[in-house]
Amino acid sequence: MMKRDEVRSSIAFVKRKFPQKEESTVVGHFVLRSIYRLYFHPLSKFPGPKSAAVSHVPEVLATWKGRQHKRVALLHERYGNVVRIAPDEVSFVDADAWKDIYGHGSKGALGGMPHKPWQRHSNTNGATSLIIAQDVDHTRMRRLFNPAFSERALKQQEPLFMKYVNLLAEKLHEGIEKDPNHKFDMLKMYNFTTFDVMGDLTFGEPLQMLSNAKYDPWVTAIFAATKTGTRLSLMIHYPLVEKAFKALVPQSIMARKRHEHHKFAKERVTKRLEKGREHDGVDIWDLVLNKSEEKGLSRPEMDNNAGLFMIAGTETTATLVSGLTAMLLDHPRAMKELTTEIRGAFETPEDMTIERCATLPYLNACIKEALRLYPPVATGRPRVSPPEGSTVCGHYVPPGWIVSAPHLAMYTSASNFKDPFSFIPERWLGDARFASDKRHALQPFHVGPRDCLGKK
Ligand code: HEM
Repeated sequence: MMKRDEVRSSIAFVKRKFPQKEESTVVGHFVLRSIYRLYFHPLSKFPGPKSAAVSHVPEVLATWKGRQHKRVALLHERYGNVVRIAPDEVSFVDADAWKDIYGHGSKGALGGMPHKPWQRHSNTNGATSLIIAQDVDHTRMRRLFNPAFSERALKQQEPLFMKYVNLLAEKLHEGIEKDPNHKFDMLKMYNFTTFDVMGDLTFGEPLQMLSNAKYDPWVTAIFAATKTGTRLSLMIHYPLVEKAFKALVPQSIMARKRHEHHKFAKERVTKRLEKGREHDGVDIWDLVLNKSEEKGLSRPEMDNNAGLFMIAGTETTATLVSGLTAMLLDHPRAMKELTTEIRGAFETPEDMTIERCATLPYLNACIKEALRLYPPVATGRPRVSPPEGSTVCGHYVPPGWIVSAPHLAMYTSASNFKDPFSFIPERWLGDARFASDKRHALQPFHVGPRDCLGKK
């Protein structure tokens, strides 16, 4: 991004040159700014298309259309492992970028670099939540929530997961029994399941979406808020447009979807807190409440984190499983191999515990391959190079500029995986044809202090 005083001085320069001509001033400003960004900017040494170096327009259009992950993958194919994808951002698909950008501290990235500032937009109640919290707040909350997402907690929560997995299977059987040609929208079915699980886990109360076979109004609000929020956040690049938009569109309309989501979360947290600690309960609050009572977490922070879990843990998982389903349907040989492995491993459905599923090699290879080709978080999560600057994969990035490692582009880069676009679970099972694959390039849950809380 061009620094504010540089913009001012270039405008002042143009104004001096063309005192009467406002239009020429604007054009002059853009010309000067483009020249600066192309040839004198601290990121000008990085390769990439000129259009991306001079303007945010390509990024904004691609994000608006939901195609930014594909755009960045194409840019890496064309320009190599390091690409300037926006005037202020450099993207890396070298497998070491994970630890250099997000890791616990190496080559200048201190405990994972900080978030890009616009990502830290506040919640509607002004309090923070895990995903936007900085430094001490993040450490405090992460400590509080870690036990609720540990291996031990997962084991305790297994009956809760199985309740909904069984219900999903039951609904599928029911449909097929009524009509052998019945078609299911599996994306919906998986979303119903994961939202039911998270509703129960987060609030001790299911949303009954599998039973009712339709989206809860809250979930519809979550989907709408996510899309609108992403689009509105693009205005950060255009302060004048943002100002005009805010002046023209009432705040109440702009924030309505986010408010709706917050209201739903708040109501349910209130209900859950009224129940208190349940003697046999294993939901998130049972595991967190003890510590919260010691003033670990304020009530507004509880509401925000509950809302966050409902987004972070649901659509991501449903996306992955729907991607895996589509790939297995497209690859009958892999489907057969997987079915044989699963049917050979268990006598009854009750034997299918999390612990035993985790030991099935082909199942795990299929999941990894789906995470590679269908990553639920597909774009790069932007981080800011710290005040001392940073070195990412051997490249010095001056302070204040944005760096990222994009998931889809990283996983479909021929420099990391052989036959990158083919679904081949065997690559994760020691097949010699894929000995050159850089397996550590696959980090769908990130690495470092801000990695995915729900990755287990
Ligand atoms: C396939 C499923 C999932 C994928 C691919 C995934 C991926 C990710 C990624 C890449 C991040 C880092 C985001 C960033 O740094 O900006 C993240 C963060 C997070 N995820 Fe997941 N996630 C998944 C499932 C879950 C589940 C089931 C939960 C449970 C609630 C969850 C909760 C979170 C939370 C709370 C964070 C923020 C952590 C922090 O900032 O400390 N995720 N996830």
